[in-house]
Amino acid sequence: MNKKPLILGIESSCDETAASIITENSQGNPIVLSNIVSSQVDVHKKFGGVVPELAARSHLEKIDWIVQKAIEDSGVKIEEIDAVASTAGPGLIVCLSVGLSFGKAVALSLNKPFIAVNHLEGHALSPKLNSELNYPYLFLLISGGHSQYLSVKNLSEYKRLGTTIDDAIGEAFDKTAKLLGIEFPGGPQIEILAKKGDPNKYNLPKPIINKGGCNLSFAGLKTAILKITKKIKTDQEKFDLAASFQRTIIEILYKKTKIAFVDFEKQIKPKEKNFVVAGGVAANKEIRKMLINVCKEENYQPIFPPIELCGDNAAMIAMVGLEKFKLKQFDKLDHPAKPRWPLDEGAIFLKGAGVKL
Ligand code: KG4
Ligand code: ZN
Repeated sequence: MNKKPLILGIESSCDETAASIITENSQGNPIVLSNIVSSQVDVHKKFGGVVPELAARSHLEKIDWIVQKAIEDSGVKIEEIDAVASTAGPGLIVCLSVGLSFGKAVALSLNKPFIAVNHLEGHALSPKLNSELNYPYLFLLISGGHSQYLSVKNLSEYKRLGTTIDDAIGEAFDKTAKLLGIEFPGGPQIEILAKKGDPNKYNLPKPIINKGGCNLSFAGLKTAILKITKKIKTDQEKFDLAASFQRTIIEILYKKTKIAFVDFEKQIKPKEKNFVVAGGVAANKEIRKMLINVCKEENYQPIFPPIELCGDNAAMIAMVGLEKFKLKQFDKLDHPAKPRWPLDEGAIFLKGAGVKL
């Protein structure tokens, strides 16, 4: 019997230090043997956001025992690992360098192949860890740094259909939370507060809702929320604003997802209509509920990673590593850390003042 590949994945692009070992069963379905994630929330809380220098130091302090723990928990011996996959970008360069160098060193010492992984491709493939997923599919990435609709033709073949022209959705959640006096990272807290509020209390703007195809914009929301927070006096008003903000995001995504479906079908003409949603914000249950409804209306199959694999983790990095290992797509040990690494390298940059839609 052929030995099934054992892949070590390492992630350190932002404020999570993570390592994971995955393999696959006899049917070729991935199996997560270990998945260790160490969050730095406590390090950055008092600064209201991620401080790159502190994040890098924390990765350096933890990386070896996190990798060691992932190996111990998996029950395999380090010599049995067939390849090492590390995130090489996009992200904070001082943070990326830690996991990338560590992964290269492990690969070198074991004399095994090294695979440089795009963190966003990790999110794109994360649902494969618990469900069957065939190419092509439409992918909505909603994280702290990115908000994009992409058609995914094959491994590493992405075409961007729409992107945010300013803030990412996770960033909008975190900024709104900050304005409401909630500690960083506030995104998950907004979901909790919204449960106690009236979603129709405040009427917030929906920037570029009627133009720009499935491109997105959230910066105008922050300005509107800033004005309202200055007048807010009670906790109930806070809950109402959180609920109204979340409702507005949901309405924007509802409309833009329908546009993305049309664009995807025009471009790909898919036999199966699969819609993958991943990234930190995909953990939001109300957003999930709405996206499942849009899929029902338009005959799409909604596919999400499990909630615990929506945020940054190394199992998704190992998942990309596994696919690339099977295709023998290896990288050299001088592969650079890439702070900017779009999935669709051909797509034009659409951020900043003066963007024409
Ligand atoms: O994918 P991720 O862990 O890191 C990046 O690669 O950016 O996403 C983190 C983002 C943060 O902005 C966080 O506030 C947001 O995802 N987030 C949420 C929820 N859980 C995490 N936003 C809204 N609702 C949630 N339940
Ligand atoms: Zn991420």
